[in-house]
Amino acid sequence: MSINIAVDGPAGAGKSSIARAVAEEIGYIYVDTGALYRSIALYSIENKLEDESLINSLDKINIRLEFIDKCQHVVLNGSDVSDKIRTPDVSMRASRVSAIPKVREFLFGLQKKIAAENNIIMDGRDIGTVVLPNADLKIFLTASAEERASRRFKEMTDGSITYEQVLEDIKQRDYNDMNRAIAPLKQAEDAVLLDTTGMTINEVKQKLKSMIYETEKSRG
Ligand code: DC
Repeated sequence: MSINIAVDGPAGAGKSSIARAVAEEIGYIYVDTGALYRSIALYSIENKLEDESLINSLDKINIRLEFIDKCQHVVLNGSDVSDKIRTPDVSMRASRVSAIPKVREFLFGLQKKIAAENNIIMDGRDIGTVVLPNADLKIFLTASAEERASRRFKEMTDGSITYEQVLEDIKQRDYNDMNRAIAPLKQAEDAVLLDTTGMTINEVKQKLKSMIYETEKSRG
């Protein structure tokens, strides 16, 4: 049976960089579920679809995850959109489309299937609570909004956005993600809380790795 590690937490907590790096070191597949919601957001922006028309168009959307050298690529209706989905506009729209129950339903099966077939570290918002309630290990990774904004801001080197704007976006997305009616962002009861404020990436990686080793040991 495959080993499933769920990593949930708010935007900018470092889930993706940490989970990706750890997965690579221990030979697991890293699955970034935010990229799935982002692809739907991109589709809705490019086709000028508001919520209702997006729901009616879901059957025209085909999303596939490909793993090239264990690195995730998202293929939306035949095109690799892995880079295109990383803009602030797509982030904001993703937060909105992810509140639509039909969108979540649409992506649920795909996430389950990948987890059943592989040793994975899956990152998202509802992995430990909804998608993989029986995950072998659940981590809730967080940090203060200011620290998350500052990390995001440093990644955005093109000067298109100020720190204050990044902080505002993060707070808005936290609010959206935590207050939506369906599958809101929250820590699963059996998740381990890892607050990374003030920790280096290396420290967080080591901590996560040691928790995974313990999990593997207890699985035998
Ligand atoms: O992790 P991210 O920033 O790429 O996610 C983009 C949006 O998708 C985020 O605002 C919340 C949503 N999301 C979600 O609702 N459930 C997930 N499992 C992953 C992401």
